[in-house]
Amino acid sequence: MLVVIKENYDDMSKAGAQQVASLVREKPDCVLGFATGSTPLGMYRELIRMHTEEGLDFSKVVTFNLDEYVGLRPSHKQSYHYFMYENLFKFINVDQRYVHIPMGMAEDIDAHCAWYEQKINEFGGIDLQILGIGANGHIAFNEPGSSLGSRTRIKTLSAKTVRDNARFFKKPDEVPRYALTMGVGTIMEAKRLLLLASGAVKADAIKATVEGPITAKYPATIVQLHRYATIIIDKEASSKLEETYL
Ligand code: F6R
Repeated sequence: MLVVIKENYDDMSKAGAQQVASLVREKPDCVLGFATGSTPLGMYRELIRMHTEEGLDFSKVVTFNLDEYVGLRPSHKQSYHYFMYENLFKFINVDQRYVHIPMGMAEDIDAHCAWYEQKINEFGGIDLQILGIGANGHIAFNEPGSSLGSRTRIKTLSAKTVRDNARFFKKPDEVPRYALTMGVGTIMEAKRLLLLASGAVKADAIKATVEGPITAKYPATIVQLHRYATIIIDKEASSKLEETYL
């Protein structure tokens, strides 16, 4: 596991974007796994800049997102579909036919999850999976206690997540109770992992992930078993690490 500590969020974002861009240049038809959330936003902005100013070409890139809320249409402003288009896909030349995001409106959820896994395999697996991390050590929607071998599936959101999300919705019954998420096992099959974290709020989770024992209590700790995992964090997120890193 390579741990890279950057001065601040901007430097973390640029270093992350460089990893993605060098893969896209080396393998134009690579398969990228994307995450939502606030952490990768700076990296996505930098990728947009590289596309606009340097001609970084995404036309052959295949994408798979980690997760999506159940019951939200792709056009819903809180959906992860909407997030990806508004924060990245609209501004780069990715081919919509190659974009995959779990469908929160799927009628047969189990069949959809199986299809999603099958699609990842058909494209030869994910070359580089981008990950954020929850303050409680979750990756994608794999909350503490998730099976470390899990596959793409439906998960019940924790009461805390439902409460936290309520502010984004007009009515309480609109707040999603479930999400579709790649499993920990699915994520671990990616050829490379790139986990980003920023801010003191992530320091405990990063300490557990980098230096703690592997445990389903912190699903992110499983990345210790991945052969090609890079963790790029800022100083604040690194503040509880005991060893010295780059
Ligand atoms: C989102 C996802 C989540 C986030 C995590 C951190 O697709 O997979 O696990 O990466 O909740 O979120 P932020 O970046 O908002 O702190």
